[in-house]
Amino acid sequence: MSNDTAPAFTVEAQAAKIFAWRRGFNASWLIDLGIKLGLFKDLAANPGSTAGAIAERLQLQAHHLEIWCNTACSFEILDATDDGKFSLAPFMDVVLASPGHPRYTGGYVQLGTDYASDDFRALREAFSSGEYKPFQGRDDTFSSHVSEATLGLQLLAARKLLPEIPFVKSALDAGGALLEVGPGAARQLIMLAKVFPAARLVGVDIDPTGVRIAREAIAKAGLAERITIIEGSIDDAASAGPFAAIVMVEVLHEIRQDWRAEVVAACGRVTLPQGWLVVVDETYPETIAELRDPAFRFAVQTGFEELHWGNVIPTRGEQMSLFEAAGFSPPERELVGEGFTVLKAQRLHTP
Ligand SMILES: C[S@@+](CC[C@H](N)C(=O)[O-])C[C@H]1O[C@@H](n2cnc3c(N)ncnc32)[C@H](O)[C@@H]1O
Repeated sequence: MSNDTAPAFTVEAQAAKIFAWRRGFNASWLIDLGIKLGLFKDLAANPGSTAGAIAERLQLQAHHLEIWCNTACSFEILDATDDGKFSLAPFMDVVLASPGHPRYTGGYVQLGTDYASDDFRALREAFSSGEYKPFQGRDDTFSSHVSEATLGLQLLAARKLLPEIPFVKSALDAGGALLEVGPGAARQLIMLAKVFPAARLVGVDIDPTGVRIAREAIAKAGLAERITIIEGSIDDAASAGPFAAIVMVEVLHEIRQDWRAEVVAACGRVTLPQGWLVVVDETYPETIAELRDPAFRFAVQTGFEELHWGNVIPTRGEQMSLFEAAGFSPPERELVGEGFTVLKAQRLHTP
């Protein structure tokens, strides 16, 4: 990579970068503790509390609370008065104390502290052995963190991307069917049941833990008659189709690379003529220059974080050929949020 246009680096600036990332590591653990010990919830309910008052309410060590509050104040997660009364800084109630809000980031942070930490520890060995620990077959907390981390994207697809496609809206309003590939904990399917009250909804996933959690959530929401979850392949869902729309949120890069073409081709086979495939995922850089393009930053760091899962983030070129080979139009492409790609394509012909 040419350095002609790069800023003049200094040793101080390079060292400061490392210190900032190390600070981010500590901030992740401070947030993890704040969630697990109920500190954010307590502060949301009791703004203007001293560390001692929080410690007393939650039966925790006063000294530990004092250091946690001071550090959170330094990180601008908490605000404080001069006499040591702490409150959540603006919007931190939403971002750290409101699971269920689309901008809640606790699940994403805890995917790091609860899972990525162990995955990274195991990576050293995996660099020699080449062994992976895939997404599937982990525990309920993992599924819950994942669905919290992607909630904003699920909402975007359910409430905006799909209803805004006229063909999809009219077909689903008329009782048509939608397939979600990789629904995980099924939060999006439950939202879609409200957005499209006449539609038949089907989810297909290969993760037994996710399938169980999804079925429990659907039953709890009283939607078992409307939403079917299938554990298996897309062909297993074919009899419930053809589908007016197929949606995948944070799934394409999770599909094993040697299965991806077949999975997307199967989407083509079970989609109605003129039906739509809507994908929200990440796009990996195709060139060295793109490695430092902010638009690819999130995809690059996810590719590293999920290296031990065996995930390979598709490039734009791979996405284009997958869609084309499956009989979809070249996808409309949009960048959203922290660096996610929305791809929307219509089926052109039977592949
Ligand atoms: C990151 S999770 C996303 C789950 C959900 N869409 C969400 O946003 O919370 C990826 C999901 O894709 C599923 N998946 C991976 N490969 C699949 C395949 N070949 N067929 C169906 N689902 C698959 C995984 O099991 C997992 O549930």
